[in-house]
Amino acid sequence: MFPRTLFAAIGIGVLAVAVAAIVVARPSTTVHAAAPSLPAYTPKGELLPPANYREWIYLTSGIDMSYSPKDNGMDHSMFDNVFVNPEAYQGFLKTGTWLDKTVMVLEVREAKSKGSINVRGHFQGAGVMDFEVHVKDEARFPGKWAFFSFDSDKGNGTLIPTGAPCYTCHAAHAAVDTTFVQFYPTLLPVAHAKGTLSPSFLKEEMSDGK
Ligand code: HEC
Repeated sequence: MFPRTLFAAIGIGVLAVAVAAIVVARPSTTVHAAAPSLPAYTPKGELLPPANYREWIYLTSGIDMSYSPKDNGMDHSMFDNVFVNPEAYQGFLKTGTWLDKTVMVLEVREAKSKGSINVRGHFQGAGVMDFEVHVKDEARFPGKWAFFSFDSDKGNGTLIPTGAPCYTCHAAHAAVDTTFVQFYPTLLPVAHAKGTLSPSFLKEEMSDGK
């Protein structure tokens, strides 16, 4: 029996050391947890994909939103989901606008209709069909904000050059600081209350008779 007891004792000893190591290691894990919400770049200036954006704050889902009166000719519907990092969301609630280092994600998914018990309406498909990020990084981008496009939600994002239609439409029509807060229902009342809506949006809103 003796050797078995000895092995058991050694086993418990090893376990205790392992547990102690985990406990000691824990503070550094916690320190790293805040970092993924900040924008991070490769030396070539690509944006690293925000890995945990699905745990950020959810702003909206649009379905088949179109910005021109013409039918876009798509044969299937699409959802887009918008997320923002929690620090930026908290900042917006206080100030009605976006802090430096805000990261906003637009994720596009196919709208499906056939599956499980569903007989009517749409639900979101598992695959991400398009992925774009809008980043506020004042020291890095002359216009404070930049857009990045991704081939997938895992690869790095390519900087979209200023002058692209992304910048023009967002600057001309977005309600707050080049972002489409008019479509983010928890934030629009905040922007109204804090008086941070852009003059062009206020003009559009008035001409809509609202
Ligand atoms: C004609 C206008 C228009 C153009 C052009 C446009 N967008 Fe947008 N964008 C919108 C609207 C409207 C929303 C709000 C979507 C919603 O409510 O679901 C939006 C939202 C976004 C968001 C979410 C964060 C935010 O800024 O509100 C990102 C990211 C984004 N667009 C990226 C892009 C990129 C990248 C391009 C260029 C490839 C682009 N957009 C071009 C109208 C536009």
